[in-house]
Amino acid sequence: MNILGIETSCDETAAAVVRDGRYILANVVASQVDIHSRYGGIVPEVASRQHILSCIPILHSAIQQANLIFSDIDAIAVTNGPGLAGSLMVGVNLAKAISLAHRLPLIGVNHLEAHIYANWLQVNQTPYNEPELPAMCLIVSGGHTDIVLVKGHGEYDILGRTRDDAAGEAFDKVSRLLDLGYPGGPAIEKATAGIDSSLFNLPRAWLRGSYDFSFSGLKTAVLHIVRQQVKAEGKKSRVEIAAAFQQAVIDILVTKTILAARRNHIRQIHVVGGVAANTLLRRTFLKESPFPVIIPIPQLCTDNAAMVAACGYYRFNRGLTSDLSLDAVSNMTLT
Ligand code: KG4
Ligand code: ZN
Repeated sequence: MNILGIETSCDETAAAVVRDGRYILANVVASQVDIHSRYGGIVPEVASRQHILSCIPILHSAIQQANLIFSDIDAIAVTNGPGLAGSLMVGVNLAKAISLAHRLPLIGVNHLEAHIYANWLQVNQTPYNEPELPAMCLIVSGGHTDIVLVKGHGEYDILGRTRDDAAGEAFDKVSRLLDLGYPGGPAIEKATAGIDSSLFNLPRAWLRGSYDFSFSGLKTAVLHIVRQQVKAEGKKSRVEIAAAFQQAVIDILVTKTILAARRNHIRQIHVVGGVAANTLLRRTFLKESPFPVIIPIPQLCTDNAAMVAACGYYRFNRGLTSDLSLDAVSNMTLT
């Protein structure tokens, strides 16, 4: 079964074709980073206008890359939430138009659930190891930091979430404070390679007794240090602060996810979402976890449409198709 996936929830216009929820035939992502970087963050109105310009060419290049024609496509999966309302609307309306024109089933997909399904995609010719459930899944992106018990396909218990900033959002804000670039996650990762993270002692909000997260205190602590120190010492201390910040975020994410995993009957830990592309986070999980850990390759951690198509396949198999009344729901939750 060939599913065409469409993703426009944030600042990536993406289309992909995935066969049987697993084999990537095409995966095209047009990032708007260059457009938004001059503002230091995503400007929603600019994002939706850019999606309108990019979506048709991206769609055609995905079909072409897959070496298919429209009659080879069996269903369309599209992210319809959560995300930026205007951006989601572009993808949803495009998907509806294709569904109507080619008489194809339409599948509305939750962006967070799509991130989980990135782990179901096969990469290159490596042997396919199907992810095992139940799993403890950390969804860590620009808008979310959730610890989710994935009991089975479509069966989720959210055990913890952030009470303020998401981890990716904290990376982006701290990078801006330290003037290291945008988006903050990759900028901080690059700037801190080989830098000692122990030179600044930053607070960690453990929120003991809860699986929730809080990153705003950490961000404020960075702000105070920047005001006191960076002016005096310049760039060297900026990357040292960034390294200490990255280490603090990773300590919290890894420790809490492993704790949740130990206290529930699970077979694997899954780590997904844009921040899961972070090399130190990946390494730390693999080193510290007593459970098998699976993390998509970095390109499938950040927003893409292959994960949307994979998720759509499993939703289709559960009979979860949508009709043309499908709407964009910007604050959609996983459950
Ligand atoms: O999943 P994603 O692409 O979009 C959302 O659904 O939000 O995640 C984007 C977030 C951004 O905040 C970005 O700074 C962060 O993921 N990110 C990273 C890395 N790559 C992307 N954070 C840390 N290290 C990275 N290598
Ligand atoms: Zn995302």
